[in-house]
Amino acid sequence: MSQARHVAIIMDGNGRWARQRHLPRIVGHQRGVEAVRRLVRAARAMGLEALTLYAFSTENWRRPEDEVSALMSLLKRFILSDLDEFVADNVRLKIIGDYRALPADVVGLIEEALARTARNTGSILAVALNYGAQDEIARAAARAAEKGAITPETIGAELDTADLPPLDLLIRTSGEVRLSNFLLWQAAYAELWFTDVLWPDFTPAHLEEALAAFARRERRYGGR
Ligand code: IPE
Ligand code: IPE
Ligand code: MG
Repeated sequence: MSQARHVAIIMDGNGRWARQRHLPRIVGHQRGVEAVRRLVRAARAMGLEALTLYAFSTENWRRPEDEVSALMSLLKRFILSDLDEFVADNVRLKIIGDYRALPADVVGLIEEALARTARNTGSILAVALNYGAQDEIARAAARAAEKGAITPETIGAELDTADLPPLDLLIRTSGEVRLSNFLLWQAAYAELWFTDVLWPDFTPAHLEEALAAFARRERRYGGR
């Protein structure tokens, strides 16, 4: 039995959740934020050191402008409403992805949140924003090349996740079985867990189910 230290989640299915209820997609995203809130608290209680959530991909800019701006507003509201709790609960917030390319007001709030939680030593909540693994690996490789040799170790040390524990478990909701450009490098030996549950319906009990499945897996890393 082993306990996962670092879990990452591709939070998918907000749109389908809304469509099934004949509601606008944005309502699905709002309910998705509520699922995030429940889960962040639960993950901490379950003893995870790090939780990484895929919130906005480098490809999500292809969505209609009104959906992109609704997602940015939800993100701002989430930071404004939950930052005090993160500070109080010793959670260190981290962003992976090129978040400086987001709208200026979002960047400002993110930097405030990063600064206010920078010295926290409890669990880490990493949010992937304007994140694409191919972009991350290319940026890391460029920095590694500037410093000298390009090796798996030097690239790994320059990834956005360099200060997180190794990825143990990668979860995707909504029945899609693909990585959609998320943590391609870090997933090399992560365990994968897929569920048909749509993100707004994902509860701490589902996370417990995934962690229990993880604990039963035998990780061999190519050895025997
Ligand atoms: C995931 O839900 C949230 C984001 C990508 C921001 P989707 O919006 O992708 O929901 P579906 O896949 O259309 O159901
Ligand atoms: C992946 O979901 C991105 C996030 C959850 C933020 P998508 O819904 O964008 O992925 P595809 O388009 O189905 O691959
Ligand atoms: Mg989707």
